[in-house]
Amino acid sequence: MKRLPAIDSGAGATNCRHAIRLLQTGEAYVCSSAETLLQGMARLGKKGIPVGCLNGGCGVCKVVIRCGTVRKAGAMSRAHISEEEEGQGIVLACRVMPVSAIDLDVIGKMKKAVTRTLWGGNAV
Ligand code: FES
Repeated sequence: MKRLPAIDSGAGATNCRHAIRLLQTGEAYVCSSAETLLQGMARLGKKGIPVGCLNGGCGVCKVVIRCGTVRKAGAMSRAHISEEEEGQGIVLACRVMPVSAIDLDVIGKMKKAVTRTLWGGNAV
């Protein structure tokens, strides 16, 4: 079965609320389709996705979309997300908005801080 694209063009987007789930920690929050995955998390005071520059330049919010669809809210630095990665659903959480419910994993350079939270001090 062909996998649906994880990144949508955004055509016909409406303002809806979607459940976002971080698979590594079990954290979940609701994010509007009018805000980025990172803005939605920060607005609620949630933690899980590392927060950096908030404008697509530092790469710390790099995630892989495991389930669901997002649309781009702005350019992502090719220094952090290659075209091939983007095709595999790897994105910067500060540069994408949800189009559906999302399951994701943090894979940026601060991933160890996230997994350490889950495993009680034993980084994997
Ligand atoms: S926070 Fe810097 S690239 Fe997303």
